[in-house]
Amino acid sequence: MRVLITGGAGFIGSNFIRYLINNRPDWQITNFDNLTYAGNLANLDDLRDNDNYRFIKGDISNIDDVRAVLESGFDNVVNFAAESHVDRSLYDPGIFIKTNVLGTQLLLDLAQKTGISKFLQVSTDEVYGSQNVREYADEKSPLLPNSPYAASKASADLVCRSYFKSFDMPVIITRSCNNYGPFQFPEKVIPFFMTRALKDEILPLYGDGLNSRDWIYVEDNCEALLRVLESGDPGQIYNIGSNNELTNLDLTQIILKLLGKPSSLIKFVEDRPAHDRRYGLNFDKIENKLGWLPKIRFIDGIQKTIDWYLANKQWWENIISGEYRKFYEQHYRNLR
Ligand SMILES: NC(=O)c1ccc[n+]([C@@H]2O[C@H](COP(=O)([O-])OP(=O)(O)OC[C@H]3O[C@@H](n4cnc5c(N)ncnc54)[C@H](O)[C@@H]3O)[C@@H](O)[C@H]2O)c1
Repeated sequence: MRVLITGGAGFIGSNFIRYLINNRPDWQITNFDNLTYAGNLANLDDLRDNDNYRFIKGDISNIDDVRAVLESGFDNVVNFAAESHVDRSLYDPGIFIKTNVLGTQLLLDLAQKTGISKFLQVSTDEVYGSQNVREYADEKSPLLPNSPYAASKASADLVCRSYFKSFDMPVIITRSCNNYGPFQFPEKVIPFFMTRALKDEILPLYGDGLNSRDWIYVEDNCEALLRVLESGDPGQIYNIGSNNELTNLDLTQIILKLLGKPSSLIKFVEDRPAHDRRYGLNFDKIENKLGWLPKIRFIDGIQKTIDWYLANKQWWENIISGEYRKFYEQHYRNLR
């Protein structure tokens, strides 16, 4: 099996590649990534010499790059490549549309011409917008994205649907809740707060801290993605959830407790615009149709994650000492 993974130098993509190497050792994996600020080849250092893995630098929204990589021929494409951070989408929506919408369309278009057996589009629960308490979006719920990031992912989902309907292309979409685990870029809330707390820096918590999210350990998501890739039906959408719903305040307190740091590090800051109050996912379909259920309890996953960040300090120190910090300093000055 020859698989093209786009965005494989990011958080979920790199975990997925490692998951495939361990679980499908005869698969040939090509990682196609243009190494934005969020892409990091250090995430895959251990696989550099693996004969079944290769890296090609390229941009999913560049026709020459995509044409060149597809020339070698693939059975499956899994599209993780994206601008993925909601906060950044408030400042520069254009790059989200370019990568997430136009890039996905270009990949679909050229992959369709070369002929592939499956195209898996990795999407998000954010496309459904905010859910009321005890409401759970299923795959037929309306798309009501509220941030430019969510709108770009919802748009890409619709383009994928149209390629299935119009051109019979074997596209499948997954929509997962928030992921956490090793190699997550420290701008996302869990590693952001962990790495700041370890340095006794304040943790800026949006609004009243009561926005809530369902959290899935990244390895559980990788297992679900592989299940969908191998057994999912073209044209279908599968939600991937974890039944670990937590408010941001509870999440922050758990992190502080496990790190032995005081709650006084929490500082409530002005909420970000259009901050969705709650995501609730109904993921009965993937359980009923594909027999998948999450395995990792939040308390075990978060401890594993903390252990990984403690053991890999150099990995995140290299990132937080770089350019990315400037974005955050300005962002929180704007909110104050
Ligand atoms: N992290 C989550 O909680 C979550 C939840 C649901 C869905 N998703 C989706 O999963 C996917 C991966 O998310 P992540 O958290 O690993 O993101 P990430 O930001 O860590 O990684 C994104 C990767 O895509 C690459 N990339 C960006 N633009 C590119 C382009 N034009 N061409 C080629 N590569 C490009 C980056 O270099 C990076 O390696 C995204 O599509 C995201 O929307 C993420």
